[in-house]
Amino acid sequence: MKTEARPYVGAALERVEGVEKVTGLARYAYENFPDDLAYAVPVQASVARGTVLAADVDAVVRLPGVIAAIWHGNAPRLAPADNAELAVLQSDRVAYRGQYVAVVVAETLQCAREAARLLRIDYDAEPHDVELRADHPEMYRPDRVNAGYPADTELGDPDAALAAAPVLVDATYRTPAEHNNPMEPHATVAVWSGDGLTLHDSTQGVSALRETIAPLFGMPPENVRVISPHVGGGFGSKGAALPPVVLAALAAKHTGRPVKLAVTRQQMFAVTGYRTPTIQRVRLGADTGGRLTVIVHEAFEQSSRLREFAEQTTTPTRVMYAAPDRRTAHRLVRLDVPTPAWMRAPGEAPGMFALESAMDELAVACGIDPVELRIRNEPAAEPESGLPFSSRNLVGCLREGARRFGWADRDPTPAARTRGRMLVGTGVAASTYPVYRRPSRASARCEPDGRFSVRIAAADIGTGARTILTQVAADALRVTPDRVRVEVGDTALPAASLAGGSAGTASWGTAVVRACEALLEELDLRGGDVPAEGLEATADTAEEVGEQPEYARHAFGAQFAEVGVDLDTGEARVLRLLGVFAAGRIVNPVTARSQFVGGMTMGMSMALLEESVMDREFGDYLNHDLAQYHVPTAMDLPDVQAYWIEEDDPHLNPLGAKGIGEIGIVGTAAAVANAVHHATGVRVRDLPIRLDKLVR
Ligand code: MOS
Repeated sequence: MKTEARPYVGAALERVEGVEKVTGLARYAYENFPDDLAYAVPVQASVARGTVLAADVDAVVRLPGVIAAIWHGNAPRLAPADNAELAVLQSDRVAYRGQYVAVVVAETLQCAREAARLLRIDYDAEPHDVELRADHPEMYRPDRVNAGYPADTELGDPDAALAAAPVLVDATYRTPAEHNNPMEPHATVAVWSGDGLTLHDSTQGVSALRETIAPLFGMPPENVRVISPHVGGGFGSKGAALPPVVLAALAAKHTGRPVKLAVTRQQMFAVTGYRTPTIQRVRLGADTGGRLTVIVHEAFEQSSRLREFAEQTTTPTRVMYAAPDRRTAHRLVRLDVPTPAWMRAPGEAPGMFALESAMDELAVACGIDPVELRIRNEPAAEPESGLPFSSRNLVGCLREGARRFGWADRDPTPAARTRGRMLVGTGVAASTYPVYRRPSRASARCEPDGRFSVRIAAADIGTGARTILTQVAADALRVTPDRVRVEVGDTALPAASLAGGSAGTASWGTAVVRACEALLEELDLRGGDVPAEGLEATADTAEEVGEQPEYARHAFGAQFAEVGVDLDTGEARVLRLLGVFAAGRIVNPVTARSQFVGGMTMGMSMALLEESVMDREFGDYLNHDLAQYHVPTAMDLPDVQAYWIEEDDPHLNPLGAKGIGEIGIVGTAAAVANAVHHATGVRVRDLPIRLDKLVR
């Protein structure tokens, strides 16, 4: 097969919508103002478990400006949903504190807010249980964990191998609940016309959202249009339909008015999902040379009463290191809490904190350099499946990272270096994330004047998807990018997979390439003549994606951190973060660097700052705003450097690209915790690493 030169894939194209964004022209969901617009403000349950006995809706609808007050007693009926979170205002049961129990619709936002505040709801409260414990009597094994993986795996005889291991690490790690805080909170403008519903929504996937919403309202998907051209971040929280979008559509249906609903920052801590807290026990057995003989990784997590959300926490352990005997397991307990959801690298981020912390503990126990320890346990094939890797450059990333970071002359002794008022130390951890690809459709069109347009219902949530698809299309069409216009974010476009699982580039890129190829073929048949009405071709990658030969496909990386811990206060600061990633071909170095650096920054934040604190008595997350739930600002950022090793992997997709949206957060927290141990001699096994855990 002849390979075409690809001058634009790999080039540092500037964001094609950059000017629109910086000049304020880019329109986000909340910035739509249809005629006759009304405003919805939800009311949230003030008990964690129980029933709603009454809502004094009559009193608030008498207030000037109020159009309607809706609760389960008068709400339009929805069709039954697989996901009980979406059965909004359909029953009197309260499954968690903060759940929507009513909504007020009014002529102005101020009026709706005031009426919602005044709406009196009576509850019959019941005792609640919101505490995740590994020994919870209702812990159970889910049939599968998310992304379809088996809950448990076992190879060989791990118990015997643990008993026989010359060196043993047995440690329990904890990660807290964490909440996504994209810059743009969730927002919907819902407009009904006849039997049709239009949703201006902030979403990671218009096609998936329509498929979920339409049946709730008893409609075929074609009756729902979702429009979402610009999204101010999501990190997973906008990856699936959530109660707010259902509530907006329901309120618009009930009132016959277009309805706008903005989720406030505070409400996001109840109704837009969160990363499940985890308790993870890791046992590593090795010979005195640090060669692993056995790996056991068990995770305990929570979900809500409404729905089983089983995060795939130990799945990276099935991929990382060689060892003949091994076991991974997931256990889940259903509590009176909101349903967890996706947050950047769900599963991999908390799971690799535990595994990569344990690897550091093993390095210390064996007296082996932690970079060398990982290289020594490099597998020849994927450890549990036995499948060959399509490409795996973890060792390359570790070596390149060590060289760039200046790892070579590291003295492993803990708590042995000071700089000013700080104890300083360095740490390393590995990263990994699976390569997914999902079916998508796309169309490519050519006009007589030589302009091209490519249409695909993809999502650009700030990643640069629109830009890289422009590059991909330009190469596939063999033209310059300025002749190509890419349209995304609308169900009027060919249906596409969502922006999730770091699969956008691979999934949409494949569809765009195939649509462009089909268009060129069509043009060829016509001797290059473009008819006056233009020429269009479409592609659907369902078959191609379904027929992939079996390989273990994963991106890998290595992260290095330098931290300083204040000798008096115990405050830990990351001074330097350096990551090297191997993620196939990098389509755009500017947008890719943003993804890696963003992921690493979020990983640093996971290590030191983020923690949603559950109040046992009230059954709610206490710190539900940015004053108390800490995310880093630009001033908190250390020197963050991201590099990559380009891979030439023929087993992926026409671009040769692996996903890059999530791998940057994986392993970062362990690298920081390992550096904190090196700096202080204190091993912090429960995130975040707050100063009270270091002042002892
Ligand atoms: Mo991502 S957590 O797969 O949107």
